[in-house]
Amino acid sequence: MAEKVTLAKVAFSRTVRSVAETWRLAAEVAALLEPGMVLALHGDLGAGKTTFVQGLGWELGVRRPMTSPTFTLAVEYQTPRFKLVHMDLYRINDPEELVSMGFCEYIENGAVVAVEWPDRAGDLIPENALHVRIALSQELESREITVERSKKA
Ligand SMILES: Nc1ncnc2c1ncn2[C@@H]1O[C@H](COP(=O)(O)OP(=O)(O)O)[C@@H](O)[C@H]1O
Ligand SMILES: [Mg+2]
Repeated sequence: MAEKVTLAKVAFSRTVRSVAETWRLAAEVAALLEPGMVLALHGDLGAGKTTFVQGLGWELGVRRPMTSPTFTLAVEYQTPRFKLVHMDLYRINDPEELVSMGFCEYIENGAVVAVEWPDRAGDLIPENALHVRIALSQELESREITVERSKKA
């Protein structure tokens, strides 16, 4: 019998050549999400982390504008399946700030939390988080995107 592909084994890499292709990949990832899951988005400034979350939100049914939470730190969106929380930790200096923002409660209450700059969260990113790594390339609109359920870079 063929082995069932479990979420724990998710690991793939894709070259995307436009924002539209990033959105398409985000839509595939949206199908993998389960309540209480953390999606950690790695990549330099301008890599496309926010763009990815926008594609994710669109696929999940969010129809209001999804702007970068760089200054607000966290924005909540209700979707039919779960609450989606978009966080940007770029301006966080101490993981404790994340705790006081209710990060743990969001997860406990079954929200999906998409986190930009997850390294700022220290040990608070759960072991079973889904990691999206976006690398810029020489070509303006190309990105190498890796999706996997592992903390290792
Ligand atoms: N393939 C692509 N995927 C994502 N963004 C892209 C792509 N090609 C060009 N871009 C542009 O790169 C920028 C990415 O910005 P943003 O998503 O805010 O990045 P980050 O959140 O990682 O800082 C946007 O201006 C977007 O239009
Ligand atoms: Mg961003």
